[in-house]
Amino acid sequence: VLLRAETLQALTEAMLVAMGSEREEARLVAKHLVDGNLKGHDSHGIGMLPRYLDSIQRGALVPNQHATVARDSGALRLFDGGHGYGQVIATEAVTWAVEQAREGGIALFGLRNTHHIGRVGAYGEQAAEAGLISVHFVNVLTIGARTAPFGGREGRLGTDPICITVPGTDASPTIVLDFATAALAYGKVKVAYNAGEQLPPGCYVDEDGRETTDPALFIRDHKGAMLSFGGYKASGLAVVCELLAGAVTGSGVTQASAFRDGVHNGMLSIVFDPARLGDIDELRSEMDAHIQWVKSSPPVPGVEQVLVAGEPERLAEQARRRDGVLIDDGSWEEILAATSEAGLSPAQVEGLLEPSPRA
Ligand SMILES: NC(=O)c1ccc[n+]([C@@H]2O[C@H](COP(=O)([O-])OP(=O)(O)OC[C@H]3O[C@@H](n4cnc5c(N)ncnc54)[C@H](O)[C@@H]3O)[C@@H](O)[C@H]2O)c1
Repeated sequence: VLLRAETLQALTEAMLVAMGSEREEARLVAKHLVDGNLKGHDSHGIGMLPRYLDSIQRGALVPNQHATVARDSGALRLFDGGHGYGQVIATEAVTWAVEQAREGGIALFGLRNTHHIGRVGAYGEQAAEAGLISVHFVNVLTIGARTAPFGGREGRLGTDPICITVPGTDASPTIVLDFATAALAYGKVKVAYNAGEQLPPGCYVDEDGRETTDPALFIRDHKGAMLSFGGYKASGLAVVCELLAGAVTGSGVTQASAFRDGVHNGMLSIVFDPARLGDIDELRSEMDAHIQWVKSSPPVPGVEQVLVAGEPERLAEQARRRDGVLIDDGSWEEILAATSEAGLSPAQVEGLLEPSPRA
């Protein structure tokens, strides 16, 4: 089904309200999910709704929570999410970090007891909008750790994303480097399985440690393990994510048994003001010159132009705002089933899907 961003937002908000969220929370969480779709990361879009409903039913996600300060050391803070929506908790934590970094130059915070935060880039973008640089380490606690450490054939790690953002200038786009350390986001394996496609090579091993491209092994048989991208390099980054985002924050690491009923994220973030380290105009012109230099590399055959991190998402957003967002049949069926389970009537859903009179 092809839907406009506004329709996705209205449907997702209504669904979240039916699942127990106050209107403001529903609006914020829906915006984060729809942004996931718009930016081309459907694995972190409204397809998460059925999982969130499941988490609520299991008591692993509690609507209408806010970030509370568990520890305060001035520029360092630990926030507790009370098992609330990660989108709300992380946004509130970054709001504090932005204020703190503007005042004192730097802020560092940890998040614990926080349900899925979604696309990590969203929080980097929030800091970048305030002219601040940020670095985010995230770990993922969910049912089973499905990523093998380098050289291993059994899962021990999460998909464990890392995000680094550098605010753009009038001439240069904001750099949003934001990816899982696992070779493939789990959602992308599911999409391949639903579509009857094979996985790219080098992403997955069976239980004997032999490489395979069959997504059924992962989705249907729950066997084998995902690999990290880049061999031991991202495998090492994932271990660091577990330690910084999981152990240091007290959020928990993959061998912990707690919270496996939902999708929980620990996060450790550093937000700082580059203007405290040097002349901001010089930095901006250096950035412009560097990005131009990088992008001036002639592309290899089949590539239109060299892009920097964050550009593919911006291009996807332009296209999807213009043409609509395509939700695959499997995900759409799951979303519709979840709407009725959450208590929305078919007539209510139908009404939300109707084009608005302004369309
Ligand atoms: N909350 C969680 O538990 C969790 C877990 C894993 C991933 N995620 C999120 O899932 C999303 C997708 O992760 P992923 O690993 O599939 O991302 P990905 O493999 O699509 O990589 C995305 C990154 O690579 C850059 N990029 C992509 N193509 C490029 C190109 N041609 N040239 C230059 N840069 C390019 C993008 O701008 C972006 O920074 C991310 O937003 C991540 O935060 C969240």
